[in-house]
Amino acid sequence: MDSYLSTSEAQTQRLGRCLGACLRVGDVVLLEGEMGAGKSVLTRAAARAMGVEGPVPSPTFTLLNIHEGRDMRLYHFDLYRIEGADALYEMGLDEFIPARDGASLIEWPQMAEEAMPEDHLTVSIRYAQDGAAREIALIPSGAFDAARLEAIRKRMENDDEHPDD
Ligand SMILES: Nc1ncnc2c1ncn2[C@@H]1O[C@H](COP(=O)(O)OP(=O)(O)OP(=O)(O)O)[C@@H](O)[C@H]1O
Ligand SMILES: [Mg+2]
Repeated sequence: MDSYLSTSEAQTQRLGRCLGACLRVGDVVLLEGEMGAGKSVLTRAAARAMGVEGPVPSPTFTLLNIHEGRDMRLYHFDLYRIEGADALYEMGLDEFIPARDGASLIEWPQMAEEAMPEDHLTVSIRYAQDGAAREIALIPSGAFDAARLEAIRKRMENDDEHPDD
């Protein structure tokens, strides 16, 4: 497990960018954290790093938005409004978790927990001491290669020159 302290939206974007740059086809990322924690902020930054252009709106009502990136697609889920894993299966959305041609980033995965694959990266965002501070933990599960965390950390070090992008 790796953990980062973010004290601003820009710092969370930086982590999102570094994560996005390290994603591969078939990756499943579960974004955990309360409302307003920064799951969508982090996902948008990851999308940019994947070469997604244009708006990346929250899929609050659509449950899933699919974006074309440079080398692969981004499957951005927000399961807040779903009624369990069965609803996900009925809609056939589990086909994209994991996806054959992209990475799946999933907000509110606990709403359809049984449908989440064993191999994944959890990004857990917690409110820290003051309003803008967040503790962000990256926790690999199953066959998700823990060495990838090292790649993300290296990118974070090199991305330091532009903390406010
Ligand atoms: N350190 C920080 N990291 C990320 N966002 C921050 C931070 N500090 C303040 N914010 C603010 O918190 C909000 C995060 O909103 P965001 O939509 O990303 O949350 P979310 O976790 O996706 O919530 P929801 O569960 O409603 O989808 C934004 O308004 C952002 O400006
Ligand atoms: Mg969100």
